[in-house]
Amino acid sequence: MLQPDRRFRNFARRLQQRRRPDGNYNVLGMCSTGHGASFALISSRYGVRALNFERFVAQKYALLMAREELREVEERRGWIPSSIRFMLSNRDGTMPPVSVFEDSWEPFLAHLLRGLPMSTSDIDMVVGSESHFAINRRWMGRSLGTLFPNAEVHTDLEHHLVHRAQAYLASGFDDAAILTADASGEPLFRLGGRCLAMTLSHGASNSVQVFAEHTAPTSSPGALYGFINDYLGFESGEEGKTMGLSSFGRDTCYRALRSSLSLQDDGAFRFLDRETLIEALGSLGIPRREPGEPITPAHEDLACGIQLLLNDIMVNAVQALERRSDSANLCIAGGTALNSVSNEMAFRASRFKQVYMMPNAGDCGHALGCALHGERFLLKRRSLNSFAPGVLRASDLHTIDALGPPYTDEEIELALTQSGLPFRRVDAVHEYTAEKIAEGFIVGWFQGGSEFGPRSLGQRSILADPRSPSMKDHLNHRVKHREAFRPFAPAVLEERAAEFFALTGHSPFMLRVVAVLPEKISSIPAVTHVDGTARVQTVSAGAHPKFHAVIAAFGRLTGVPVLLNTSFNVAGKPIVETPQDAVDCFCSTNIDLLVLHDFVVEKEGAPGERTR
Ligand SMILES: [Fe+2]
Repeated sequence: MLQPDRRFRNFARRLQQRRRPDGNYNVLGMCSTGHGASFALISSRYGVRALNFERFVAQKYALLMAREELREVEERRGWIPSSIRFMLSNRDGTMPPVSVFEDSWEPFLAHLLRGLPMSTSDIDMVVGSESHFAINRRWMGRSLGTLFPNAEVHTDLEHHLVHRAQAYLASGFDDAAILTADASGEPLFRLGGRCLAMTLSHGASNSVQVFAEHTAPTSSPGALYGFINDYLGFESGEEGKTMGLSSFGRDTCYRALRSSLSLQDDGAFRFLDRETLIEALGSLGIPRREPGEPITPAHEDLACGIQLLLNDIMVNAVQALERRSDSANLCIAGGTALNSVSNEMAFRASRFKQVYMMPNAGDCGHALGCALHGERFLLKRRSLNSFAPGVLRASDLHTIDALGPPYTDEEIELALTQSGLPFRRVDAVHEYTAEKIAEGFIVGWFQGGSEFGPRSLGQRSILADPRSPSMKDHLNHRVKHREAFRPFAPAVLEERAAEFFALTGHSPFMLRVVAVLPEKISSIPAVTHVDGTARVQTVSAGAHPKFHAVIAAFGRLTGVPVLLNTSFNVAGKPIVETPQDAVDCFCSTNIDLLVLHDFVVEKEGAPGERTR
């Protein structure tokens, strides 16, 4: 609940802003959930920036909590308010890595704003969603008001409202039908303490009209999928593993359970409660798998079953949405929007002409959703065309996810010099890199600001040759050490995507799984999944000129304008952020070649184990 003093302070600060002669503004969004913490800046002068805290501290899912908040959680382990239980979502009930907010926010924010001539006193508005400040929101609100002395502070945005902002305000669409879907948001007083898990709405100009709201646990696609993910022995946050495994299974489990799924006209659904579902799985001969245990065909069938059930749920929700919204555009956000298989199924089963999923669609992307909401709906501003040339604008967000702070050539050179590694600068680095990939090199590729979302999209990528049937195993053996059933994804020139994939429109964020054209499967075996599909990224010259150039050069050399593109990290670690992180990852793995901007570092005798 908004405090009276905050209301007065915000009012005073709003008046102050109206008197600002230059009309500029800086909005800071922030979030911290069990999926991680992040900050996002939308500045009328300096554009959009966003960064996940986990990259900053090199610890996956790292959280920021107020000292007092952390103390309360630790003292009340036996009874943790339901509003923040989702922050403590590790399998064994332990806390994810937590940094104390008061000690950590300033260096993190300074890192996000690095190189910009601004300070905390230049922030006009701070926006966070209610779910992130659940246990001690009043304290946090007061604290933020002090930390950002000239800012309005809003920490009372509903969780799914922020998901809607993530989806719609970043989409570039003037109007759109909006589906949000996840495990759950926070308990809402207006719903008698229930938590939203799906909303159906329509956005146009400066308003969003909500058609339907569905609550957990009964209509929660994220909770259902997450439960089976857990049953299959994967951690929360590793739902992509269940999705990858699903392609290996048969539909036997799905056929056995489908009659228990009731789909409703308003997009809601009903399914078995947990106890009944566990009994049903037992009777189907599918045992719970503990982490590290072998994956059996029964587990593959269960993964297939839950994926097909999710597809049905999402198709039904999108079809319910298209009956209410007359838009030709569809936006999907919330953690379930990271399921690229069901995204594609739902889109294809609808009449929508275009689809947008924010690359950081889950809760960790809330910081950007908060900032976008603050700009458009609280400040009532729209940053279209208000930036200096060359600055990343909010209207660019539907094409690019490189929102991290950039690094200069001097900073890269310094990191390389300090590493002691021999390095050199190459003129046509895209040609050089393409040649090395065609020779079988595994390449660490570092360009510009990092991706905000969980997918590497050409800013912090590991690149390899997709033509080699053994490249997947080679890459896993040498660098990634991932489960063998998980596919690697292709990045293809946008203008040539239709030559290889059954794709309508674009897929700039690897959030659509489509069929590889049958005659092309043998050309790109390393990025074709067992069922003939691929989680494709289309790369445009406008959004990613350097990445586009290296794929095009590879295409000229080989006739295949496709590269294997996977995240620049090793198992269990976040994607690299700084040049130093990239150098460290290069040194600790068997990556053959490191490319940072135009600088290259090559290991002696690389590649150690050629595949071609
Ligand atoms: Fe969510």
